[in-house]
Amino acid sequence: MVPTTSLLLLLGLALLAPGLSADQCVLTGWWINDLGSDMTIGALSSNGEFTGTFHTAVMTPTKDIKASPLVGIQHTKTQPTFGFTVNWNYTESTTVFTGQCFVDTEGKEILKVTWLLQSHVNSIKDNWKATKVGADTFTRRAEVME
Ligand SMILES: *[C@@H]1O[C@H](CO)[C@@H](O)[C@H](O)[C@H]1NC(C)=O
Repeated sequence: MVPTTSLLLLLGLALLAPGLSADQCVLTGWWINDLGSDMTIGALSSNGEFTGTFHTAVMTPTKDIKASPLVGIQHTKTQPTFGFTVNWNYTESTTVFTGQCFVDTEGKEILKVTWLLQSHVNSIKDNWKATKVGADTFTRRAEVME
């Protein structure tokens, strides 16, 4: 049990570590936020563009958690700012996230993010109540969870 977990952790670190210097941060990888939602971000293109998937833990009943696609772009210098859009594919709503990746004194990456959710409404007269704003913190997901 322990050796398997350690092996997976080492494998994960080996996959994530290339190219990381002291306070560089690359969004590629697996992240979880303070509400238990998680996202997986693929490799960056040469100009910092990426795609991925986002699983929300809060927008649907737990049994219905579904993945939705995300697309974004990040700067590629130290402690970069970034933005991405999640196109929820089980509702007609859209969320944009923007934030910065910080590296703490122990070298741990943390994403501080602000989001805007535009909920689909049936007519322009309902638009006044269609937008929500919030904040999230993401950390790297360190081990494989079911
Ligand atoms: C929604 O997006 C996810 C992640 O990209 C994908 O796996 C899934 O097939 C999509 N579902 C629908 C109904 O389009």
